[in-house]
Amino acid sequence: MKKQLLIVAHAPSDNTQALRDAVARGAGADGIEGIAVTVKPPLEAGPQDVLAAQGIILGTTENLGYMSGALKDFFDRVYYPCLEETQGLPYALYIRAGHDGTGTRRGVETIVTGLRWRAIQDPLICQGEFRDSFVADCEQLGTLMAAGLEAGVF
Ligand SMILES: Cc1cc2nc3c(=O)[nH]c(=O)nc-3n(C[C@H](O)[C@H](O)[C@H](O)COP(=O)(O)O)c2cc1C
Repeated sequence: MKKQLLIVAHAPSDNTQALRDAVARGAGADGIEGIAVTVKPPLEAGPQDVLAAQGIILGTTENLGYMSGALKDFFDRVYYPCLEETQGLPYALYIRAGHDGTGTRRGVETIVTGLRWRAIQDPLICQGEFRDSFVADCEQLGTLMAAGLEAGVF
């Protein structure tokens, strides 16, 4: 049976949709056969999605120094239903921030530390004026997670 990779991404703009799509494209790269990828906006994702996943990629904008309200709502709904069930879940985080990103990183890391999810790498912070390299970085992140899950590295 294929392993499940869940991508929960807040994408309110063309740029953030390009980042989300790049993560998904990377996760579905040629040669990765054993991973089923599900992409959901935070408001449509819930505990059942997380419980079914072997890995999760979180994506958010930084809004007013914190993660998007939509991603926070996702955490509010999944936290207790998942707390005892998903410890050790490998996760990755990317943040699109106009000029900072640190408040969002801290906010997400506080929550996932409580959940005892396991970061596969430091957060990818796509900060400042939008650059094409953000898209490439997000694509690479998707591939890294999917390939690592497939290989049983994470
Ligand atoms: C209401 C609002 C609040 C924002 N607050 C922050 C912030 O605190 N820190 C930051 O780095 N960017 C902030 N931004 C910028 C967004 O992170 C950025 O516009 C968003 O990620 C979309 O990226 P894009 O313009 O490339 O599509 C804010 C944007 C909006 C609309």
